Amino acid sequence: MSFAIMCSGGDAPGMNPAIKKFVDYVYKKGSTPYLIYDGLEGLIDKKIKKATHSDVSGILHNGGTIIRSSRSKRFFEHSYRMQAYYNLKEFGITKLVVLGGDGSFRAMQIFSSEFELNFVGIPSTIDNDIYGTDYCLGVDTALNVIRDALDKIRDTASSFSRAFLVEVMGRDCGYLAIVSSMISGAEVCVVPEVAFEPKELTKRLKDEVQNGRNYILAIVAEGSKKTTEVFNWLQDDIGMETRVSILGHIQRGGNPTVYDRLMAFDFTIIAVDHLLVNNNSNKIAVYKKGEFGLMEIEDVVSNKYQLPKHYLDALNLLD
Ligand code: F6P
Repeated sequence: MSFAIMCSGGDAPGMNPAIKKFVDYVYKKGSTPYLIYDGLEGLIDKKIKKATHSDVSGILHNGGTIIRSSRSKRFFEHSYRMQAYYNLKEFGITKLVVLGGDGSFRAMQIFSSEFELNFVGIPSTIDNDIYGTDYCLGVDTALNVIRDALDKIRDTASSFSRAFLVEVMGRDCGYLAIVSSMISGAEVCVVPEVAFEPKELTKRLKDEVQNGRNYILAIVAEGSKKTTEVFNWLQDDIGMETRVSILGHIQRGGNPTVYDRLMAFDFTIIAVDHLLVNNNSNKIAVYKKGEFGLMEIEDVVSNKYQLPKHYLDALNLLD
């Protein structure tokens, strides 16, 4: 049996440990692993190679992905999907593991509705926005990068009378913002899921500033598109000199944490074990309430991830 692995969409720390486990485990099970380079673009262009143990040695501790990734526009055209399918056939690959996020799983859902496929997707995105799973690979590492940045920003913030606005990633989802607000004790958290209506907060913060508060930390999720508005609010309504830090792509880098490495191993084993005994089955591996499982690709892509209510509640973001 021939298996292949590829990464698609934004890279996430934990992809390399998953790739290593995939190659070692597929060989252990007596099958042949292949690597698809450059994601769906590489699948179209036949960048496929039989894997060796040495391809994946010494990669566990590295962020990013040794087989690279891409956001493929071409894959949304049927003719390129057909080309991709025939490339898999040519190599005799009948089992596929896809490390990716929401957009990649949507592409795979279309692909699997047209051609006979057998794949398992492993949620891999620092945004943590995949329906059906509490955890996506890369999130713990990204949160630790953000925590480190916030701890440092607090040092300088507390030395001046200033507000600091930190923009964190999350294309449509505020998960990174709410968790990093909780663990850093930020005074303000703005996410795409909740309208920014700061009337009461303005009054409270102004009172606090009058009573001696000398700095404010505000965390804004990129997906809210509120960075400029929150900056103006801090400067003009709260009346505090404000600095902005956009953390950007450093959040996607860094050595995968212990947790991301262990999750990568478990997700990969679930995926390969399922593919070993199933045909024509297209699933996403999920981790829900402390347990691993598999969900139909249709259920995952047709539903929207919701932020945990108790987190929103902890930040007073519920109505
Ligand atoms: O991978 C997820 C993510 O990092 C989002 O948080 C962000 O909006 C997007 O990818 C950035 O994409 P790109 O690296 O293509 O600019």
